[in-house]
Amino acid sequence: MVTAYDALMARIVAEHVDAILVGDSVAMAVHGLESTVQATVEMMVLHTAAVRRGAPGPVIVADMPFGSCRQGPYVAAKAAEALMRAGATAVKVEGVRGHEDVIEHLVVGGIPVMGHLGLTPQSVNQIGGYRVQARTQTEGEKLKADARRLEELGAFALVLECVPEALAREVTEERQIPTIGIGAGAGTAGQVLVLTDLLGLDGRFRPRFARRYLEGEALVSEAVGRYAADVRGAAFPAKQETLA
Ligand code: KIV
Repeated sequence: MVTAYDALMARIVAEHVDAILVGDSVAMAVHGLESTVQATVEMMVLHTAAVRRGAPGPVIVADMPFGSCRQGPYVAAKAAEALMRAGATAVKVEGVRGHEDVIEHLVVGGIPVMGHLGLTPQSVNQIGGYRVQARTQTEGEKLKADARRLEELGAFALVLECVPEALAREVTEERQIPTIGIGAGAGTAGQVLVLTDLLGLDGRFRPRFARRYLEGEALVSEAVGRYAADVRGAAFPAKQETLA
């Protein structure tokens, strides 16, 4: 699984992955916002629709943005409905405590729900930063209980973000639903990466758990630099690029 936020990238990644995540990371990766807390339902709907236009085939999971699961089942169902109408196959919900009723309501209403435990970026202001979660035995037991609860509520899969590898492996072995890891080691059933990290599009940002498969920022900068130099040096457009 990989994230995508627009039609063009969705078309490209759809050739290779089993599922696309329209993550609320779009707020940071595309909109330049400070955290995913700034993502809105409107933003998620817009990007989900674009991704579906680019990739008509695959499973598309759209993030339920900050706050959308905290105002009760009715508000959450409205948001989820908008995401599904925009082309999502499923929605992803961060955490479980305090909004079990919402998750159950969505599942019973026919909306597939993917869970998300460990580092839940929408809670960054409470957690105090982007760091590994559930390091202690007590926190690990709490996470395992949350994973069990999500499965009971009908979640069809579970993202585990930035948790110790041993814990992710344990959850994967204990649960019947597939786990998808990010910064959770190799023991999960699948992996997800943020596309801009995978492509190295932000040269300043290199999470330790991500692998860059492209030096995207350097390549884009070099290409645009060559174009600008060609225009300034009157080397572009040339005869073959001149229409008549
Ligand atoms: O928003 C996102 O991209 C995510 C992934 C980090 C799992 O939730």
